[in-house]
Amino acid sequence: MSRFGGIRVVVVGGAGGIGGRIAERFAEEGADVLVLDLLRGADPALGGASSAGPGRGIRHCDLVDAVSVEAAFAVALAELGGIDVLVNSAGILARGSLLDLAPERWDLVMDINARGTLFAMQHAARAMIDQGAGGTIVNIASMAAKAGGGDEGAYAASKAAVVGLTRAAALEWGEHLIRVNALLPGYVLTDMGKDTRTDEDVATWSKKSPLGRLGTPDDVAGFALFLASVDGEYLTGQSFNVTGGMIMH
Ligand SMILES: NC(=O)c1ccc[n+]([C@@H]2O[C@H](COP(=O)([O-])OP(=O)(O)OC[C@H]3O[C@@H](n4cnc5c(N)ncnc54)[C@H](O)[C@@H]3O)[C@@H](O)[C@H]2O)c1
Repeated sequence: MSRFGGIRVVVVGGAGGIGGRIAERFAEEGADVLVLDLLRGADPALGGASSAGPGRGIRHCDLVDAVSVEAAFAVALAELGGIDVLVNSAGILARGSLLDLAPERWDLVMDINARGTLFAMQHAARAMIDQGAGGTIVNIASMAAKAGGGDEGAYAASKAAVVGLTRAAALEWGEHLIRVNALLPGYVLTDMGKDTRTDEDVATWSKKSPLGRLGTPDDVAGFALFLASVDGEYLTGQSFNVTGGMIMH
């Protein structure tokens, strides 16, 4: 039997990047995987589906819109027949000084990174409680939640909110054997931030790790699968740095 045979996994934000690799690895290890993510061009009123991608493919979900999230989880439950593991990997970056931060920018970052994570957790936890067999939630936060993020103040605040939500949900849902943990990656080369990233940035960031390199989607994915496995079953409410030692607190 493969490690995740018979396990139903929803990866929000799994169309690419870190979430995409997490979805692929769950599928490779036998899980029944559905990705919820933005499907550009999809009519939100009609939902939207693509068979491309890991597992069963992608179904449309816009975390900004509570109705879209509710519809996407209804689709996920109908297709998978339940949810055992939720991974929240969707997120956006926001750069710039807090001095100049516009209210709309703050709202968007918080809506997607923090409120969207909460909505997804609510839907998955309700399903897990109904199923009565517990479950696992892995939220992808960021090193910025602890390190402040430099010119990423709003982003850092949104990820600190994810850490707080992770602890609160672990306390609230532990009695249902729902484990909730967060992973805090450092720098990972994905589409996120690629428009402003320079070779010099990559060299500078790499030196922050005692291991001398940036993270990869696989570095994060391996930990996510561990948390969802039986080997992680005494872990809840924790926020784990996946930073190659860039931060140690
Ligand atoms: N790449 C890094 O260096 C890094 C570092 C620390 C934390 N993270 C976190 O890891 C997670 C994954 O990031 P990534 O690097 O894979 O980035 P990415 O941009 O490759 O992936 C983010 C995913 O989120 C989806 N998404 C964005 N807005 C959405 C919305 N409104 N509704 C639904 N889905 C939406 C995107 O479509 C995309 O598939 C994010 O939460 C990010 O904040 C990334």
